[in-house]
Order: sequence, then C-alpha cells, then structure tokens
Amino acid sequence: MEKPKFKTVQEVVATGEGLPERYLHAPTGDGEVQPLNAAVPEMDIPAIDLNLLLSSSEDGREELSKLHSALSTWGVVQVMNHGITEAFLDKIYKLTKEFFALPTEEKQKCAREIGSIQGYGNDMILWDDQVLDWIDRLYITTYPEDQRQLKFWPQVPLGFRETLHEYTMKQRIVIDKFFKAMARSLELEENSFLDMYGESAIMDTRFNMYPPCPKPDKVIGVKPHADGSAFTLLLPDKDVEGLQFLKDGKWYKAPIVPDTILINVGDQMEIMSNGIYKSPVHRVVTNREKERISVATFCIPGADKEIQPVDELVSEARPRLYKTVKKYVELYFKYYQQGRRPIEAALI
Ligand code: OGA
Ligand code: NI
Repeated sequence: MEKPKFKTVQEVVATGEGLPERYLHAPTGDGEVQPLNAAVPEMDIPAIDLNLLLSSSEDGREELSKLHSALSTWGVVQVMNHGITEAFLDKIYKLTKEFFALPTEEKQKCAREIGSIQGYGNDMILWDDQVLDWIDRLYITTYPEDQRQLKFWPQVPLGFRETLHEYTMKQRIVIDKFFKAMARSLELEENSFLDMYGESAIMDTRFNMYPPCPKPDKVIGVKPHADGSAFTLLLPDKDVEGLQFLKDGKWYKAPIVPDTILINVGDQMEIMSNGIYKSPVHRVVTNREKERISVATFCIPGADKEIQPVDELVSEARPRLYKTVKKYVELYFKYYQQGRRPIEAALI
C-alpha cells in the first residue's frame, strides 16, 4: 500500500529547515488577537470515584449527582478508583515515549497508508490548504479482537503489543462501568446506553506526540474539535499541560491529576442523552520547550448500530434534539478537517 509522502512533525524538526507555512494559523481577521498559547484559567471539574458511582449508598448517590453536574456542564470528569494501577499507566506512558523516540525507519514499519486512519504518521490531509496540526500519532483499532490489523501494532519497543492488549481489556471494564454510571445518573435503567452502544462496539487508541514547537503562539497541536466517539478515555501527559476545553466561548486548561483517567463525552453520547450530556469542544496547544504525549481511547458504537436519544429522555418538556445516526465517525472526519462541528448535521 502507498504511504503518505508528508513528513511527520518529528522529521520536520529533525531537518532543521524552520517552520513550514502549512502549520501556521492565519490571523482570523475577526478581531481575535489572543495568541494560541495565551494563559487561560484552569477548569473546575471534579475527580469522581468510579466504584462509588455503582454503589447504592448515600455516598454513591452523591457521587452520581457530581457526575451529572460535571457532564451536563463541562462534559468532562477525572475518574479515580478506576481499577488500573499507577504502575500500569506508567508502563503505557513509557512505551509511548519509547515508540516515538525510535528511528524513523522503525516507526515507518507501522506507517499509515493513504486513505486510511490507522497507523503511524500525520492525520489525513484532505484539502490542499488544510492547516496542519503539530502532532504525530499512532492510531490503532484495538477492539473487537477480530478487527485488529497487526501490521499497525509496533513490535518494538518490546512489550508494546502485549501491554496495549492488556490495557484494552482493562479499559473495557472501565467503559462498561462508566456507561452504567451515566445511565444511573440520569435515572435510567443501567443498560440503557450499553444496549444501544452494542456488542459490536469498537475501541480505537490514539497515541499522541507533540514535539516542542518554535511558534506556540501560531501553531496548534490539535485544532478545536469535539470527539466523534460515545466517550473518550484520555491519559494526558503527567507533566506538560496543553489540553484545553471550551465553555461559554472561553478556553480553560485541563488540570493534571496524577493517577486519574480523564473522560470526556463524545458526540454520540450527547445524542443518546438527548443533549443533556455535553460533548465539549477541546484543543491542544503547543509548547516551546517540552514535548508532550497523551493516549486517547475512543469508544465507538458499531457501524451497524443506530444511535439516537433514548426514549426516556425525550418528553414534551424536552423534545427530541437529534436525528438517528449511523456510522457517525465516517461523516465526522470530513467535518473535523474543515473545522466544522459534525453534530450539527445530526440536529433535528
Ligand atoms: C484527541 C484529543 C487530547 C490530548 O486525540 O481527540 O483531543 O490531550 N487529544 O492529546
Ligand atoms: Ni479529542
């Protein structure tokens, strides 16, 4: 298969030829003067105890109401007591760093192919004038197991494949619990979302590397977007900030809370919850001195599934907001690279 000819960001940096124009964001001309790396306030989101969410104790109910409040405003929570040890999470961070530190030829063995999403390299370039994100990534479908394409799974660093498999299985437990907790927090039957999400649901893991950037005021790591998933589990860098969320027209930075998994609502959960839970717009800004890594797992309903607001959340007081969608992720990528919000296509 043909591989894309564009250089990765790490290669651009290595050539020392300076910053290519294609990464520069032009001034918007609408009076926006804020540089991309301007200081922003920190968002105020709770750390939620995942196990407590599923207990029927008084504390459990309190935790559910914290979850409801965070997901209906920010669409984001930090999840603790998720059952994955800190040592295991550290192993994932370490393997991610080791992978991106490999020589280009080694990484190219899992290179993305033209027209496909999976693999190592840059994101798809769909338009000649598309401004590029300052990011290299390795994108892998990890679940269901029969959908895996092992050619995209690195054989080095040693242990990468086994650890990714193990991480996938551990995340499945978290995903199941989180769906149940969200249903409980909306006073729904526990399996309401899981039934719609389906047995054929897919997990895609995206390993992100943001090299240090000479112009953090004009270059973005990931442009503003909301995720096309049902929700996303994110391991943000433990030391370097960069992730920001938009609320009421203002950007806020995500706090770094060790040992937690950040979960953000995606468009398909916003649709299933009839708009009660918000799929937040977020972006990643770059940093002049430090590289940043993160690992995102997208939980995506199977292509055969029809996603729509669950009946119990539609009423006269809260009319149905979204159409039924299917294969939402396909439509998503086109919109994303144009800087448009795909969920608008699903509005009634
Ligand atoms: C993403 C994303 C955030 C990050 O991959 O969709 O928003 O911190 N990543 O890298
Ligand atoms: Ni995202």
